[in-house]
Amino acid sequence: MTTRHFLTLQDFEPAELDYIIQRGIALKAKQASGEIYEPLRAKVLAMIFEKSSTRTRVSFESGMAQLGGQALFLSSRDTQLGRGEPVEDSARVLSRMVDIIMIRTFSHETLERFAQFSDVPVINALTDDYHPCQLLADMQTYYEHRGSIRGKTVAWIGDGNNMCNSYINAASSYDFKLRVACPKGYEPLKSLCEQHADRIFITESLEEAVTGADLVATDVWASMGQEEEAKIRAAAFKPYQVSPALMQHAAPDALFMHCLPAHRGEEISETMLDHPCSVVWDEAENRLHAQKALMEFLLNGRVD
Ligand code: CP
Ligand code: NVA
Repeated sequence: MTTRHFLTLQDFEPAELDYIIQRGIALKAKQASGEIYEPLRAKVLAMIFEKSSTRTRVSFESGMAQLGGQALFLSSRDTQLGRGEPVEDSARVLSRMVDIIMIRTFSHETLERFAQFSDVPVINALTDDYHPCQLLADMQTYYEHRGSIRGKTVAWIGDGNNMCNSYINAASSYDFKLRVACPKGYEPLKSLCEQHADRIFITESLEEAVTGADLVATDVWASMGQEEEAKIRAAAFKPYQVSPALMQHAAPDALFMHCLPAHRGEEISETMLDHPCSVVWDEAENRLHAQKALMEFLLNGRVD
């Protein structure tokens, strides 16, 4: 049987992605009830980090522990990867020792090469181009608050970055419309936009994107690895701030999401995270439950 990976949302069928949401909700309920549920006993997750993380590291590490397994934190600084050992060799070696691997790295191509040489499932824990695990959490969060997102309208404000690209994939997989408001020159991946042209709309106008939207989401103006561009980006993105005033244009029951970490006074106004429409803390928590569902699915298949 060929090994399945989760490099983008497109690696899973829409029905499988719906299953992950429902399974994440079920695993959340198990955790809340205090039930001990350890289907991944004696399994080991390797976590390779070439960039910083709070949520991703803690949610994967806690999630694996809660499911009965163990997680290894591998910083590229402390492994041979950081000293130039080829990803192909690292993949072959690690996948003989552990059961599942997650990687946070820069180039998406590095992740693809790693997966190609891995005999065990590989999970994308963020690359420069995609952040699919965050979308599992976002979609679970939307479902918990408002039910199915099918047929709804989502507004993405700001950078056409890894999160935005994953929202484009989500629009296709979960069947919603996506309006992206970004400054010229900061659009999402061109090939992806062309592939999903039927369901995405790109504009420079925040109001045009947000009007009537059921969900408004944003992210930082400068992602990890773009620190040197921060000043130029701050100037280009200055008008692209989500605030309670902007949310007035959205649907009356619209939700607001941000993958975090956030910069108050930049992509969000000072009070935006505390606004009644903000579900960012549920969204962050759901990283744990959604990824437990993901790991269980990759290692044990469907359990319903
Ligand atoms: N949202 C997210 O991936 O957060 P971390 O960078 O803290 O993992
Ligand atoms: N776009 C951000 C997301 C962080 C979770 C980054 O890549 O830094």
